[in-house]
This record gives sequence, structure tokens and C-alpha cells, in this order.
Amino acid sequence: EAAEKAGFEHFMMKEIYEQPKAIRDTLNSVVKDGVIDFTDIDITEEEIKKYSQIYIVACGSAWHVGVEAQYVIEELAQIPVRVELASEFRYREMPLVKDGLVIVISQSGETADTLAAMRMAKDKGLATLAVVNVIGSSIAREADKVFYTLAGPEISVATTKGYSAQLAALDCIAVQFAKVKGLITDEQYSYYISELQTIPEKIEKILQDKERIQWFAAKYANAHDVFFVGRGVDYAVCLEGSLKLKEISYIHSEAYAAGELKHGTISLIEDNILVIGVLTQSKLYEKTVSNMMECKSRGAYLMGVTNYGNYEMEDKVDFTVYVPKVDEHFMGSLAVIPLQLLGYYVSVAKGLDVDKPRNLAKSVTVE
Ligand code: G6P
Repeated sequence: EAAEKAGFEHFMMKEIYEQPKAIRDTLNSVVKDGVIDFTDIDITEEEIKKYSQIYIVACGSAWHVGVEAQYVIEELAQIPVRVELASEFRYREMPLVKDGLVIVISQSGETADTLAAMRMAKDKGLATLAVVNVIGSSIAREADKVFYTLAGPEISVATTKGYSAQLAALDCIAVQFAKVKGLITDEQYSYYISELQTIPEKIEKILQDKERIQWFAAKYANAHDVFFVGRGVDYAVCLEGSLKLKEISYIHSEAYAAGELKHGTISLIEDNILVIGVLTQSKLYEKTVSNMMECKSRGAYLMGVTNYGNYEMEDKVDFTVYVPKVDEHFMGSLAVIPLQLLGYYVSVAKGLDVDKPRNLAKSVTVE
């Protein structure tokens, strides 16, 4: 096992480090000569033009990818997207749009609820596209079309590279659908693709600063409650950051759309509660800052994750983490990295079993 960890103490950290490669390989599998080519996935331009609705169905972190992709697809490709938890979707009597596309996202390709939800959608006559990591898995075999993420085998129960590769795949779908529907120019198309291609090296840069997160994690290892707040894409990042923390460190945490705090959650904020804000979306930046200030005035300790350039953040919050800039639609791929590291280091500081957290399984093949 030590050999498999390639010098890392845990699979999770090894896989965090494999994210640049996972994203690069996934992008390279569809980007040919600077354009996205879905021939291997077998989606034609006619089909893309026909889809009037997208349903994204998944569980766990894959569902968080769906929440993030919803913002990106709706904004770039102007197709309404619904994101559904597979365990809910499969039992709902919801009217489905006949020319809708169901995108199921699953690292393992074996999650029971996701598989059942996909079968239900197929039975109802909808087209299914699976974004799957494991080749030949049940979901990959049964889906109409498959977009393989090339993250390689993921061992740690808490997903990192699987998640990041899924996000890259969904971003490609958003950009390609926007292009085929004539919503973006050739220049914009090339720009989005080249921005996506910068993500791996930017993640490498974030990882060089990991000791700062390690230091901060040691300070907060005994926290009982942590809140994550953000808006838009940043809210989706919060969902994933919160899950990473709670699943491996056993600290209660919640992710809130920042504007929703005032509808209840803020009553939980008291002295020294850690509130982590993710602020990468320029048009929402001030809004989230003001929500965080409301927490600060009630005693919260604030951590902010934002992009380089927003240096006034340091005057507002107690601990700032900067990530490089990329087109704002894709900022989530960078903002999530410090949060993965935070979950990891808190778990290590508490002496917990990082790779095999209690009660959890890598792949949930029973209902
Ligand atoms: C389990 C894993 C999660 C994962 C979820 C969905 O709960 O612990 O990390 O996000 O299943 O798994 P899938 O293989 O369908 O992506």
C-alpha cells in the first residue's frame, strides 16, 4: 500500500495532487486542435440543438458538480437545467420533457440510486448521457452516451480528482452546447477552451501554498460547527467544501447560499464560530462580503477564499486564501482546492482515518 501511495501519507493527498493530470487528461480527450470534439461521445450537433431541457442526476459530490454545472450551462448554453438527487428523482412522479437530456454523473458508475434513476429516465424515453470515471461500469454500459472522465482509479472515500474531472467534463459540455447553439463567437469559444486548459497549472500553484492551510486547519481542528457561504458558482463550491470537511473530520458543517443566512442560520452564529466565505464571482462579491460582515458583527471568525486581486478582503476577514484567476464560470475548479486541503488537514490534525472515514463507502451499490 505504501508503494501505491507514491510517497504520500494518504491516498487523499495523492489524489489531490493528481487533479491537474485528471483535468488535463479529461480535457485532452475531447479537445482536438483547439476545438471540442464530441464524436467519441456520439452526440451530434442536431441532438444538441434539440435538447430543450437538461436534467442532471447524481449523488454526493457528483451532485455538487451538477449544482455548479447548472449555473455554467444555463448561463453559457441557455438551456434550463434541473439538478436532482438520484435518490429523490427515481421516486418522483415528475413530468419530464420528452426532448430533454438526462446527464448522470458518477465516478464509480455503480451508485445504486444513480443507476436506478438513469434506468427510469431511459424507460420514459429520454436520452441519457453518463459522465463516468470507471470504464465498463454499469452506468457506462447502460447509458446512451458516455463521456469518460480520465481521473484514473480513486481510492480515498472522499473524492477529489474524480470530482474535479467531472467538473471539467461538464464545463466542456456547457461550452460546446453554447457554441453549437450559436450563442458564443469563435473568439469566445477559443477563449473558454484555453481558459479551461489553464486550470491544471493554476491548481499546481495553489498546492504550493498548502502549508498555510495546514497551519489554519490545526487552529480549527476542535471546532464544533463551521459554516460555508457563497453565491452562484461559489455556493456550489461551498456545498463540496462543507461535505469534504464533515465527512473526514466529523465536524458539523453546513453550506449556505449567502443570501439565505438571514432566514434562520444566522441565529446559530456566535463568538468564534468559523464562517468560510467563497467569493470568486465579481458581480456577487459585495453581496457575500456584506453577509459575512453580518456574521462578524455576531462574533464569527471569518475565512475568505477569493482570487488574487481582491486584496481588500484582508481588511474584512481574519484569514484570506487567494487562488489564481480563471474565467469566472470556471473559478469553482480552483476555489475548491483550499477547501479540500482544509478538510484533509483537519482530519489529519485530529488523527482520524482520512482515507476511510467511519460509516462511509467509496461506492454505494445498495439503496
Ligand atoms: C459515495 C462517495 C462520494 C461520492 C458518492 C457518489 O457517497 O463517498 O464521494 O460522491 O458516493 O459516488 P459516484 O461514484 O456515483 O460518483
